[in-house]
Amino acid sequence: MSSISKEKITLKINGTEQQLEVEVWTSLLDLLREQLHLTGTKKGCDHGQCGACTLLLDGKRINSCLTLAVMHDGSEITTIEGIANGDELHPVQQAFIEHDAFQCGYCTPGQICSTIGLINEGKAKTLDDIRDLMSGNVCRCGAYSNIVKVVQEALERSEQA
Ligand code: FES
Ligand code: FES
Repeated sequence: MSSISKEKITLKINGTEQQLEVEVWTSLLDLLREQLHLTGTKKGCDHGQCGACTLLLDGKRINSCLTLAVMHDGSEITTIEGIANGDELHPVQQAFIEHDAFQCGYCTPGQICSTIGLINEGKAKTLDDIRDLMSGNVCRCGAYSNIVKVVQEALERSEQA
């Protein structure tokens, strides 16, 4: 029996359409982690302060802890689990490895999704833009200098493509 506080929604998650029943107060982050066991999207602050929960919603980056799942009926969601193409890493994932742009890795899924979202936005032109537009993704290990190199390289590659 479905509860009155639940809503039926359809989400396309990492390429697969899913019919879901969610409690109206469930954040998109909790839906993914707790209901669907997609734990690659991390929970840091749960208050929009750290960016660990960043994913792509219809191609745009979003803090999934700050939004309710029911608000996104019909949307397309890409989490870190859906970024690679089968066994082939996404160029941004590869660049994080090549530049050693992480230590504990907790912020990394969010940093990767945010980098891809940043490229899609097409607003970052300078190093300062990158620092500014990535400032919502906190790295407690302080891997910022290498993360910035990754983002810079990813932007250059996207401009050449
Ligand atoms: S967990 Fe969402 S911004 Fe920190
Ligand atoms: S690599 Fe540890 S928080 Fe960023």
